[in-house]
Amino acid sequence: MKTPSHDLIVFGATSFVGQILTRYLAENFGTHGRLKWAIAGRSEAKLAGLRNSLGLAAGKLPLVVADAADEPALRRMCKSTRAVISTVGPYALYGGPLVKVCAETGTDYCDLTGEVHWIRRMIHEHEAAARKSGARIVHCCGFDSMPSDLGVLFLQQQARERFGQPCVEVKMRVKAMRGGFSGGTYASMVNFVKEASANPALRKESANPYSLCPPGYAPKVRQPNVKSAEYDPDFDAWVAPFIMSAVNTRIVQRSNALSKQAYGADFRYDEAMLMGRGLQGRAAATGLTLGLGGFMLATALPPTRWALERFVLPAPGEGPSAEAQRNGFYDLRFFGKTADGDVLRAKVTGDRDPGYGSTAKMLGQAGVLLALDLADAGPKGGFWTPATAFGERLIPRLVAHAGLTFEVI
Ligand SMILES: NC(=O)c1ccc[n+]([C@@H]2O[C@H](COP(=O)([O-])OP(=O)(O)OC[C@H]3O[C@@H](n4cnc5c(N)ncnc54)[C@H](OP(=O)(O)O)[C@@H]3O)[C@@H](O)[C@H]2O)c1
Repeated sequence: MKTPSHDLIVFGATSFVGQILTRYLAENFGTHGRLKWAIAGRSEAKLAGLRNSLGLAAGKLPLVVADAADEPALRRMCKSTRAVISTVGPYALYGGPLVKVCAETGTDYCDLTGEVHWIRRMIHEHEAAARKSGARIVHCCGFDSMPSDLGVLFLQQQARERFGQPCVEVKMRVKAMRGGFSGGTYASMVNFVKEASANPALRKESANPYSLCPPGYAPKVRQPNVKSAEYDPDFDAWVAPFIMSAVNTRIVQRSNALSKQAYGADFRYDEAMLMGRGLQGRAAATGLTLGLGGFMLATALPPTRWALERFVLPAPGEGPSAEAQRNGFYDLRFFGKTADGDVLRAKVTGDRDPGYGSTAKMLGQAGVLLALDLADAGPKGGFWTPATAFGERLIPRLVAHAGLTFEVI
């Protein structure tokens, strides 16, 4: 049993989201409280600058220097801590060595990747080592996929209490959302588009709703998937595709698979955006579908991608302003139906902009839970989802300390 000097290390603390997270941890956990933590990255000068910007003197918050490709340095870092949060992305480019080292050294790990193909690769390559060492690896602890994964968990608990059975059909609909996105997020998307355009097998795998489920897990249920404007009678509104659904649906299906099909063997789940009623709703849903398609096409084609990167989108390290983060929010609606036809509706909301202000708080709470409260409890070693790793323990903390709400409506 190791006796590390830190409970938690934030690796990538100087990234756009890492800086918000570091400030959140400093404000909520202090530097001399119950949580012993440190910040890490590849540049000591940048880390020291971040510490200064928080008004902390040297010695108040330890700095750990490690490059994402330097395995010996990552190994030293992991040996000095119980848990690591990583915000170093694109994860498919830089994240693999740290997951490998965490899995080998029994160090708990969480991140905010939304790169499904990379998560799949990590599970394939490192799950055996994580099971052996006891490391709990939890991807997708940001806006993708915490609110979806925990929202479904919450709805299913409520359904079991009320109806004695889970909902076999669940829909998540984004009612309202305001936020921006950072250069790091766009860089991750671009990297996926580049990998997928050179790899037909990856494109095929990405279309599989069970792509993150354990090998051999293949329910004979056709999963719904909103790909264009359509009318949704359960919400009496037109809906359009939701860009994050390709990540969230895979995580929610993995949660069902890892929990021995707690949501049912025939569980169906999809996500979309609510666009309103009548002709106006239909026009808005069609417009959004076309806009999304155009954006994906522009990202896939090198000349338009160059123009987007050069003139339109934020560069790595940049993202929504402090004011935009403060004024952001989201409101997600869940609809569930049991096999007997009972219906339940729930709502999950978050303050701050989803991908940054809210994401940093969710990720921080997940990391602290892993490092302190789950240190000698919780799931055993392996690759877990937010719902299966943290489950009921995390929801009240997100409500009390991260600006989220979960309620039946
Ligand atoms: N799931 C969600 O809801 C969600 C939300 C937001 C972001 N994200 C993801 O989170 C990641 C971070 O986003 P961001 O906008 O904060 O990114 P960013 O500002 O571009 O930061 C990237 C970070 O990676 C570090 N880095 C790059 N190469 C490295 C290396 N070789 N060794 C050590 N560190 C290295 C950079 O270090 P320097 O500071 O030294 O340059 C920087 O701290 C992205 O993958 C993004 O897709 C997900």
